[in-house]
This record gives sequence, structure tokens and C-alpha cells, in this order.
Amino acid sequence: MYRSHTCGDLRVAHNNQEVTLSGWVQGVRDKGFMIYIDLRDRYGITQLYFDEESTPKDIIEKAQKLGREFVIQVKGTVVERSSKNPKIPTGDIEVLVSELNILNNAMVPPFTIEDKTDGGEDIRMKYRYLDIRRNPVKNNLIFRHKVAMEVRKFLSDEGFIEVETPYLIKSTPEGARDFVVPSRMNEGQFYALPQSPQTFKQLLMVGGMDKYFQIVKCFRDEDLRADRQPEFTQIDCEMAFVDQEDILNVFEHLTKHLLKEIKGVTIDNFPRMTYDDAMRKYGNDKPDIRFGMEFGELNEVAQHKEFGVFNDAELVVGIAVPSAASYTRKELDALVNWVKRPQVGAKGMVYAKYNEDGTFKSTVDKFYDQDDLANWAKATGAKPGDLICVLSGDANKTRAQLSALRMDLAERLELRNPNEFAPLWVIDFPLLELDEETGHYHAMHHPFTSPKPGQLELLDSDPGAVKANAYDLVLNGNEIGGGSIRIHNKDMQATMFKHLGFTPEEAKAQFGFLMDAFQYGAPPHGGLAFGLDRLVSILGGQETIRDFIAFPKNNSGRDVMIDAPAFIDDDQLKELSLKLDLKK
Ligand code: AMO
Repeated sequence: MYRSHTCGDLRVAHNNQEVTLSGWVQGVRDKGFMIYIDLRDRYGITQLYFDEESTPKDIIEKAQKLGREFVIQVKGTVVERSSKNPKIPTGDIEVLVSELNILNNAMVPPFTIEDKTDGGEDIRMKYRYLDIRRNPVKNNLIFRHKVAMEVRKFLSDEGFIEVETPYLIKSTPEGARDFVVPSRMNEGQFYALPQSPQTFKQLLMVGGMDKYFQIVKCFRDEDLRADRQPEFTQIDCEMAFVDQEDILNVFEHLTKHLLKEIKGVTIDNFPRMTYDDAMRKYGNDKPDIRFGMEFGELNEVAQHKEFGVFNDAELVVGIAVPSAASYTRKELDALVNWVKRPQVGAKGMVYAKYNEDGTFKSTVDKFYDQDDLANWAKATGAKPGDLICVLSGDANKTRAQLSALRMDLAERLELRNPNEFAPLWVIDFPLLELDEETGHYHAMHHPFTSPKPGQLELLDSDPGAVKANAYDLVLNGNEIGGGSIRIHNKDMQATMFKHLGFTPEEAKAQFGFLMDAFQYGAPPHGGLAFGLDRLVSILGGQETIRDFIAFPKNNSGRDVMIDAPAFIDDDQLKELSLKLDLKK
């Protein structure tokens, strides 16, 4: 038996008991007549001691050879400590060691295995197994497990069945590039790894499975960010014989349940906002509604004066930054420079201080008098002491720029409280989105999303105006889920493909299997998928999903621990009928 207890178990109640513990040496303190060792495992830390008077000499000598991260097993007696350590749960006791067994030596780790480590991101990724021994990473993984278990329990209780779908499939278009896998047995042909199980879950509905879920890996070859990994996990769900309302209700319920069970937070208010409103009020389809700073449109009150920049703009729009009228000139210049950075892309920014005494001071006082500026304050909801920041230009771009500024200011003003949770449905997404580069429309969600009833006619005349039965679940300014009511009729699906620029032959070659299935009694259906990594990290009060993934990829999509991706040798290439022509 390697252990009778874990390193987190022992309390005063165990006093005088003989115990066996196994774990890693966190640290050794050799005081000459006494050696102390902190022994660590997943459950905690227990202090061991070796006493020159009562511990046999050979054991003392062995203990003196121990280094950090050695794996040991000890037998000993639990002793109540005279000076207790209130910082750890086992701090009332220690274990007087009578037997010591070294299970494995360890090299000195490249960084300290402590909550606040001296190791940088890169080195910790390379030795991720050591990083996982640290509490912050370990606790995140345990937290993730807890969320996933709670999800499984909830959905299973609601009658959902977990079904596995294949990983070696044909491309499903979710807007990113596919990772592909060459087939040895089918020369020159490739599987694609699923960007999501979208088509399979729809086929399960045709198969009568009615309520499906799966906690499933998805693969997308896209540029990485803090909230994106090339392989990530979805809580993928689909239901038959439901309308949008049914789906929103089930998953609103799940979200509330998770917040209650995991965070102890009760959510009463679960608002819904149309995509158009979200864009108008926040310039963003995933608004963080934990704080205000809603957009105020100023076209009416700021145009038709002498200020050409605003007169020529499609949109003039501002926000009131709380208590920022006191910003110094230097701080304000920094703000203007911030919006002019290439990543944000504004040409400039106009601002007006709404002073505590009720007067205004703006960068455009030449064109706007106090009454004009009072109208700006009204439109943006500014109060005395606030700063009104105004951007102008092309409507879509300006909204995106002001949204970036709003989020950055919220961060600086510490308005994004990680312990506050504000979920929100964004509904009525457009069906199609114009790709500015190619001039073609593509599906905003995916090509299987159904237009809202009665909007089909618009597809020819004004494709950009067609709204879909598509929705996103937003939590604290992050898109944590998305879904839609699907097309379940072959002809409508064919029409959709036509509008997306597929010839009938292309549509048949790529998605014939789905359209065929629709001819054999496809029920009305819809669903959604949560991003589990995002959900877990936001519930955990953070926004970097990497910290909640056991073995994540770095920003270049590499696993630096196993050094992947990697070249394969010529024989393997040949077997796969592949020829690489790299100009090295
Ligand atoms: P969608 O593409 O919106 O929908 O994805 C669903 C959710 O998955 C998460 N997500 C990601 N998380 C981490 N890294 C990524 N690269 C990444 N990409 C997406 C997001 C997102 O909201 N098949 C549809 C769902 C449906 O219609 O039912 C789909 O995949 O949190």
C-alpha cells in the first residue's frame, strides 16, 4: 500500500495514528538536529519531520539526500504541532517519520513549483507536467472537471443522450480552415478533422435521437488569440421538434444552474438583445453588460455645424466615461493615441469634459457651444464629472473602434468585475455576411441555419437584410455559445447553397448526404454549442482559455512540450502518397 492517507487528509483527530503517505518533496529544511520536509500531492501539503533523537541514523542520512520533487513514501506517526500553521488545512499536525522509501529521484525543476513561480510562460509550457503540479494550474483542471460533470449531469437529467461522432470526416464549413489528415488506403484523399459535429448532430435528429449532446473536441485552423485554440472543446447540443424559444429556455436553465452550482450565484435577469441593438448600443455582437457606457448616437446634434469631420461622417457616436473629466492632458493624449493605434484604426477622437460645475470643455469648442455639448451629454447619458469620447466615420468601423475603446476603458476603470456574471442572449443575427474582400456573401453562422419565416424573399433583393433564427450566448463580453434553428428541407437547403455561391454539383458533392437525409423525414430541429474552454475560464474569473487546458498549444499553434507539429520521414510521406516540395 503506497498510502493510507493523502497529504491533505490529516488533522488533530489523527493524533498518534500510524500513517503512510506518498508524494513529492516540496522543500527540505535541515536544521541539523531536526529535518523538516513538506510533502505534496494533489490534495495538499503535510509537514514531515525527522528527529535526531528518535529517528534511526540511516533514515536521517537518506532524508539529507532528498532534493526538490523527489518522489517518496514515508511511514510515521501523526503528532499535534506545538506551533501550528493556520495557512494550510493540515497545519495543526506533522508526521514523525519512522520509514522513508525513495520511489524516484528528480532533477532540479526548471522553475519553482509554487503558486507564484519564477518560470516564464514558455518554460512552463515546455514542462507542462511540472506546471500541472502547481496549485493554480491543478485547480483550474479540477474546476474544469467540476463544470463538465455538472453539465453532463444536467443534460442527462433533461433527457439528453451523449453520442460520439467521428473525428475523421469531410469538411464542415464553420468559417475556419480545416486540419486535414491524409488517407493511406485512399491515395491522394484526405479526411478533415471536424470544426464541429454540426452535420452529424443534424443526422442524429433525422435518426430520431431527439435530444443529443456531446462534450467534444473540435479543430479549427485559425489565428490564435487568448480565447481561441486550434483544438478546443464544445458542449455540443441538438434537439428535434423545438423552436428557438424552447432552445433558449433549456440553455438559459443550464447556464443558471452552472452559475448556481459552481459559483453560488443566482441569476434572475437573463436579458435578450437583438443583434441590431447590440451593434447600435455597444458596437459589438458580444457586449459586456456588467457596466454602462452605452453608445449615444450624435448625428442629429453634432452634424450640420461647421465641423467638417462630423458632417462628412456616416456616423458620429460617443460614450460617457464615468468620472473621467478629471483626466490630465497627458492621459487624454494617451487615450487619443490609443484609438489611433493600427489595431483600433480611428483617425482621431473628439472629447468633451463635462465638468463638475456643469460646464463643458471640448476639443471642438470652436464649433460647438455649451448647449450643443449639453445635447451630447444627453445623448450619451453623461453626468457632471464624466468625459464624453466621440468617434466618427464609416458606421460599422466607427462602432467597432468605439467598442474597443469602451472595453479598454472598462478594463482600466476596473469595471469588469470577474466575480459578477451577466449572461445575455444576442438573437436575430443576420443570415449572411458580406465578405468585403471578395464581395461575396457567406453564412454568418453556418450554411445550415434557417432564415426567419417570411424572410426568404429578401434573399434575392437584399441578402444582407435577411435575419436568421440564430443566437449567441454571451457571458461577460465573451461569446460562450452559439446556435440556430436549422433548415430541414432539401429544397430550402439547396436554395441556401445557391445563395452562398455553390453550384448544384458542388453542393451535392459536399453535402449531398445531408440533403439526401432531409428527404427521409427530417424533423424540425435546432441546437447550439457552448465553448467549454471559454465557459470554464470565465466561470473561473479569467479570459485566457490556455490556463484551463491541460496541454494547450502556444500562439503559433505549437505544442512546445512534444514539439508538434513535426516533419515526418520520407517513407511515411511515400506511404501516404504525399510529396513535399519545401524550398528550404
Ligand atoms: P460556433 O462556431 O459558434 O458554433 O462555436 C460554438 C462555440 O465554440 C467556441 N469556440 C472556440 N473556443 C475556443 N477556441 C476556438 N477556436 C473556438 N471556436 C469556437 C465559442 C463558440 O461560441 N456548430 C455550431 C453550433 C451550432 O450551431 O449548434 C458551432 O460550432 O465559445
